[in-house]
Amino acid sequence: MEVVGPPRGGRYLPAEDTYLLRDALLGCSGGACLEIGFGTGAVVSSLARRFETAAATDVMPLDEARLSRAPGVDLVLADRAACFREASFDLVFFNPPYVPSDGVSDTAVDGGEGGVEVPARFLEEALRVLAPGGQVMVLLSGEGDLGAFEARCRSAGLEVERAAERRLFYETLVVYRLRRQA
Ligand SMILES: C[S@@+](CC[C@H](N)C(=O)[O-])C[C@H]1O[C@@H](n2cnc3c(N)ncnc32)[C@H](O)[C@@H]1O
Repeated sequence: MEVVGPPRGGRYLPAEDTYLLRDALLGCSGGACLEIGFGTGAVVSSLARRFETAAATDVMPLDEARLSRAPGVDLVLADRAACFREASFDLVFFNPPYVPSDGVSDTAVDGGEGGVEVPARFLEEALRVLAPGGQVMVLLSGEGDLGAFEARCRSAGLEVERAAERRLFYETLVVYRLRRQA
């Protein structure tokens, strides 16, 4: 993936996508969960009490990350899930940068080719740290190439389910539930 100039990305403030993912996770509970790309902490903080352990990563600048709040969650500055061992989490979720872009100049929003290149990189790491029987929840926008994303998931042996969907006036947001086929 081409990086256009020095990557930069501020702290992503909660928006419709944040809330749709948070609401889609309301029924989830269990052992260990991980959010990739915590932003302000608005999504992962809602899960902290329902999981035995909760962790989240981001790559935003340290001074921005210090403003994020998620009591009971280990917030780590790291690339995707790179700092965690294989098969560590029962649930991995993310609202990744998904805006279609030529290369990545803003790491908070630029999703690369078709808006699914960066989400696919998040997914690769999510699957590495996902425990057997676990699930991945991913928010994406219909502005991106959802067909390409779904095809990539299926060819990786995942069951693909649309767990939530919300139509806004300019785009449709989708939350995917992904599980390894039994
Ligand atoms: C669309 S924002 C979502 C933020 C927050 N989860 C929310 O829903 O409001 C995407 C987040 O992913 C983070 N991010 C981008 N590249 C990343 C990477 N390689 N590893 C971890 N986080 C990353 C961005 O800094 C940003 O906070």
